[in-house]
Amino acid sequence: MRNKLLEYKNVAARFHTIEGTTSTLNDIDLTIYEGMSLGIVGESGCGKSVTARMPIRLLPEPTFKVTHGEVIYHRDGKPFDVLKAKQNGTQINSIRGKEISMIFQEPMSSLSPIHTVGSQMRELIMQHSDMDKKQAKAHAIEVLEKARVPRASDVYDDYTFQLSGGMRQRVMIAMAISCNPRLLFADEPTTALDVTIQAQILGLIKDVQREQNMALVLITHDLAVVANMVDEIAVFYLGYIVEHGTTDDILKNPKHPYTKALIDSIPTLHSTEALKPIKGSIPDPYAKITGCPFSARCEKVTTRCRVEVPPFVSHENGHKVRCFEA
Ligand SMILES: Nc1ncnc2c1ncn2[C@@H]1O[C@H](COP(=O)(O)OP(=O)(O)OP(=O)(O)O)[C@@H](O)[C@H]1O
Ligand SMILES: [Mg+2]
Repeated sequence: MRNKLLEYKNVAARFHTIEGTTSTLNDIDLTIYEGMSLGIVGESGCGKSVTARMPIRLLPEPTFKVTHGEVIYHRDGKPFDVLKAKQNGTQINSIRGKEISMIFQEPMSSLSPIHTVGSQMRELIMQHSDMDKKQAKAHAIEVLEKARVPRASDVYDDYTFQLSGGMRQRVMIAMAISCNPRLLFADEPTTALDVTIQAQILGLIKDVQREQNMALVLITHDLAVVANMVDEIAVFYLGYIVEHGTTDDILKNPKHPYTKALIDSIPTLHSTEALKPIKGSIPDPYAKITGCPFSARCEKVTTRCRVEVPPFVSHENGHKVRCFEA
C-alpha cells in the first residue's frame, strides 16, 4: 500500500486580472504518494508552475483563485486542506520550505544577492528546527556537501553572484533539501544550464531523492528530460491533465494525440527523419475554449470534440486519458 502525500481533487483555478479571467487549471486530479517521482510535462503556459505553487500558496492571491476542488496534504496521517488555511499563516509557513520545498528555474530569483549562501541557509534551517547558529552552520555545510558542492565550507561564505550557474543551482538544491522535505517540486531546474551541467544536476536531484527517500515532482516542457528520472508522468495541456500513467506506459503506449505528438517531436541523434513539430500554437490564456482543449490542433478531431470536454478515463494499469478517441 502506498501512502498518500498530496492530492489534487478536481481542482479548477483562475487568475482574475484587468485583462480578464484565465481558465488556468481545470479538473486536476492527481495523487502524489510518499517517495514517488512524478514528471509534469507540457508546453509553456499549460499550468505546470501553478500546480506546483498552489500547495505551498506561492501565488498572488486574490488575483489567483481556486474556484473548485481541494488540495489535501497528508500530515501525520491526517488530511489537511491547504486551500482552507491562511496564505501566510503558521500552518502554511510550517509546510512551505520544510515539508514541501521547491527548486526554481531561475535560482537568482529565489536566492538573495545581498546575503551569503551560509546566512540564507542558516536562517532557513533555524526557522524550521531548534538548532542554534553553530549547529545550523554545520548542518548547512553538510547539506551543501550532499548537493556535491565542492569546497562547501568556502562556498558557505560566498555571495550567490560569485557562483557559476551550475553551482547556484546546486546551492538551490541544497537549500531545498536542507530541512529534509517529504516532497520536492523541481520546476524546470535545468533549463538555464548547458547540457552537460544539466545532466549532472538531474543526476544529483535523482540521487538526493533516493538518499532522502522524498517524493519528487519534476516539471519540464521536455519529455526527454523526465524519461529516465521518474516513475510516472502527467501530461498537461491548457490547464488539463490529458494523460497520466507510468513512465513506461506514457512513452511506449501513449494514447492521447498530444502525448504522441510530444514524443514525435523529441529529436534523436541518429534519426535521418525530419523532426515533426506539433502544428499550431497554444491559444491566448484569456480565450474562451469549448470542447477538448486540444481540439484546435488535433488531427483526429471530431464534431463532438469541439463541443464536449472528454472525461478523464482510466484504462488498464491506472493509465488515464482524456480523449474520446483513445
Ligand atoms: N501572475 C499571473 N497573473 C496572471 N495569469 C497568470 C499568472 N501566472 C500564471 N498565469 C496564467 O496561468 C497559466 C499557467 O501558468 P504557468 O506558469 O503554470 O505555466 P507553465 O506551464 O509553468 O509554463 P512555463 O513552461 O512557461 O513555465 C498562464 O498561461 C497564465 O495564463
Ligand atoms: Mg512554469
